[in-house]
Amino acid sequence: MRTFVAIDISDDVRSRVQALLAALQRASCDARWSRPEGLHITLKFLGEISTEDVEQVKQKLHALPPVAPISIRVAGAGFFPNERAPRVLWLGINVSPELRQLATDIDQSLVPLGIRKEDRSFSPHLTLARIRSTNGLAPMLGILRQFEPFEMGSFEAKEFYLYESKLAAGGSVYKKIARFPLTPDAPSIT
Ligand code: 2AM
Repeated sequence: MRTFVAIDISDDVRSRVQALLAALQRASCDARWSRPEGLHITLKFLGEISTEDVEQVKQKLHALPPVAPISIRVAGAGFFPNERAPRVLWLGINVSPELRQLATDIDQSLVPLGIRKEDRSFSPHLTLARIRSTNGLAPMLGILRQFEPFEMGSFEAKEFYLYESKLAAGGSVYKKIARFPLTPDAPSIT
């Protein structure tokens, strides 16, 4: 199954992003929009793994040293790979040392299972849309600018999840398959 590790967003942030998505979709550009209920911050993409591997991944993630809840702020927006060739429209996530450390620890912990370490730098984000062509892009960008500086709010992440991504008509559907709590009494990394 296709899996990844991610942090869920708060209901408040989700409803703000939902309003932004609804406004942008009025431009009817050539894009596949994320479902508000599926929005998440990916910490590690595992790709295709077997059912047996899922159990081992769960064990490795449960064995990570305790991590305290992490403060997350969703603000700013941009494009991958860049604004001149926009393929993905995203909202930014503040990269705190704690969040970076958690992503690094997760990445490292899975290496013994043969899961490749990330070779790209960690750039957490919420994917809003995958842009298929420049058709209708300019009006969408016009609406987007009205939301600058894209302050969607902050929340305290108290857990992360192993997700399964299932292909479905109209885009992938994400299902939580295991929960990993962040513990309030864990020592701070700083
Ligand atoms: P994206 O939103 O930036 O595309 C489920 O597909 C999650 O895993 C998404 O958050 C997606 O990030 C991420 N993902 C998919 N393929 C990936 C890859 N090859 N490398 C890193 N992350 C990936």
